[in-house]
Amino acid sequence: MARVYNFSAGPSALPEAVLKQASAEMLDWRGSGMSVMEMSHRGKHFSTIATELEADLRALMGIPDNYKVLFLQGGATGQFSFIPLNLLQGKTKACYVNTGAWSVKASGDAAKYCEVILSANSESSKFTTIPDLNAWQLDSEAAYLHYTANETIHGVEFQEVPNVGGLPLICDMSSNILSRQIDVSKFGLIYAGTQKNMGPAGVTVVIVREDLLGKADPSLPDVFNYVVQAKNDSMLNTPATYNWYLVGLVLKWLQGEGGIAAIEQKNIHKATTLYKAIDSSSLYTNPVNVNYRSRMNIPFVLKDAELDKVFLQDAEKQGFMELKGHRSVGGMRASIYNAMPIEGVQALIDFMAEFERTH
Ligand SMILES: Cc1ncc(COP(=O)(O)O)c(C=O)c1O
Repeated sequence: MARVYNFSAGPSALPEAVLKQASAEMLDWRGSGMSVMEMSHRGKHFSTIATELEADLRALMGIPDNYKVLFLQGGATGQFSFIPLNLLQGKTKACYVNTGAWSVKASGDAAKYCEVILSANSESSKFTTIPDLNAWQLDSEAAYLHYTANETIHGVEFQEVPNVGGLPLICDMSSNILSRQIDVSKFGLIYAGTQKNMGPAGVTVVIVREDLLGKADPSLPDVFNYVVQAKNDSMLNTPATYNWYLVGLVLKWLQGEGGIAAIEQKNIHKATTLYKAIDSSSLYTNPVNVNYRSRMNIPFVLKDAELDKVFLQDAEKQGFMELKGHRSVGGMRASIYNAMPIEGVQALIDFMAEFERTH
């Protein structure tokens, strides 16, 4: 079967070149005579993979030297708890901004460890916008402010990094990391699961400013303690070795594409083209405030929900997969991460136009 266009929100489509390289290197990585899966994480071959992985991520994102880069397990969901346990540092409060399902989960977990100050909340809009920064309630005694850069389910994305004064800024970038240029030095901590723009599921990247470290809650297991993991190069225990390797291949692919600046231009083009098609149709609508529409996850509903099922069936027949919206919001969602080529977006638009014409 030919490869389909996969619009899954994550795990999601990977660059075909990466899959082919992994396949070519499956039995023998760079003349080592073994698969990466079979290597000791303490051996010289894997050590090369690990060193290149961190160096490539630092180069691509311009990560300053005073930041640690960790490759952990436990998913972004684990970080919802590990962040307060590592970063409260004796403080009793943290600020959270709820702009969709993922930030609601993050603030919900944080409430187990501290008083959560809800600095802003767009629930009354059904998470279709981002509250004006001037109206955010900031508490200078809070340990940090947490927000979600891109709400994967609701399709809402911050277009700028919010300026929250002196509070360390903590950001869940799971679904838009590496998709747009950002100034890492504005953040206290950035985290992301890898299963959207970085590779397969199974690795969680944490980029954390060193001055925030050192006073973790004593109950925190060492394996999730940023200081302990940094001292051990994220290998306190056996890491997800093959997944690290695949993330490394994706980073090298991205370098070959011209890096983040170049992929950002492609992402703008893909998203603009799809939104334009939705906005000019009389069958499809996207409910999100135009100023905060996501470039990565584009939800849309059909005017007549009765057509949902046949839309999805027809789409699948023609090789457009995983377009069903998240069960909590319904409708459709096209996730168009870095690995989705413009041809895939254009083919989807053509399919949608033809479906509208015939229905
Ligand atoms: C923005 C965001 N945060 C957190 C998560 C949770 O990630 P994980 O499943 O890796 O815990 C997801 C998953 O889709 C997400 O999209």
